[in-house]
Amino acid sequence: MAVYHEPVLLKESIDFLITDSKGTYIDATFGGGGHTREILSRLAPEGRVIAFDVDDNSRQIAGELSGSDNRVAFLQKNFSSIISLKQEYPGRRFNGFLFDLGVSSYQIDNEEGFSYRRDERLDMRLDRRLDVSAHEVVNSYDTATLADVFFRYGEEPRARVLARAITKAREKESIETTGQLAGIVSRVCGRSAKTLSRIFQAVRIEVNKELEVLADGLSAAVDLVEQGGRVVVISYHSLEDRIVKEKFRYEAATCVCPPESIICTCGKIATMKILTRKPIVPGEAEIENNRRARSAKLRVAEKIV
Ligand SMILES: C[S@@+](CC[C@H](N)C(=O)[O-])C[C@H]1O[C@@H](n2cnc3c(N)ncnc32)[C@H](O)[C@@H]1O
Repeated sequence: MAVYHEPVLLKESIDFLITDSKGTYIDATFGGGGHTREILSRLAPEGRVIAFDVDDNSRQIAGELSGSDNRVAFLQKNFSSIISLKQEYPGRRFNGFLFDLGVSSYQIDNEEGFSYRRDERLDMRLDRRLDVSAHEVVNSYDTATLADVFFRYGEEPRARVLARAITKAREKESIETTGQLAGIVSRVCGRSAKTLSRIFQAVRIEVNKELEVLADGLSAAVDLVEQGGRVVVISYHSLEDRIVKEKFRYEAATCVCPPESIICTCGKIATMKILTRKPIVPGEAEIENNRRARSAKLRVAEKIV
């Protein structure tokens, strides 16, 4: 098999993540396990990694890894359920959380319907146990809801026109494949790789509810992480990055009163300190080696109370 996934910002993210070599770390997005392996290489025998991923291949890879290293446990769950670690590991201290968002190279290159570059059945579910796939989104959402998906998640200026073209096309026959969807997008918005990527990304975000689960996962991580521990997030597009930036800013703020307030009445205290005033991005050498790293942004915050 070609490399499953080349981990992005590997050294930088793990340098931030590990504050205690005997601690417990959560890899919220195991993928091919590149980041987990790097964490393990820096942990003492008492250290632990609890990894999450919804993907079947990740479960298999993690199974092989935990067979040879008993410091790893894998949960085939959405990271939106991270808060349940409190019950599953009562009394455990969690020293750091890593989120390396989005999809792995393997998923883009091999799993159904993620890429406009191959013609195959529309699917895009990271978790094959989900009921709604890209097929349902494209074939059953009404025009206004589809337009909203393209506009909000794809920032597509011709979102309404595109949504209308899709609902019209499916009156004749349902849209079964990535090729059919790419054909309509190209006719309406122009056949540019950038536009096709944005529209496909918008559908993927909707199918997997990526922004909602990110907000839930981040909140849980901020809640559970030990004082002095870190939440480390690598994001790949501006919508994700904005959620991370705003969450960290909110947690680091000492006052959230409206700007017109003369005195502070909110009683807010800062719970996190931001360690990356500007996001860290990959250097030229990394991007040259791995084009998928080019949009990565790393943000880190540390729990202070
Ligand atoms: C960029 S890859 C992670 C790669 C990994 N860091 C590595 O080094 O191999 C993102 C992974 O997160 C998983 N994922 C995305 N959203 C998820 C979610 N909400 N819950 C659990 N896993 C998720 C995907 O299935 C994918 O395997």
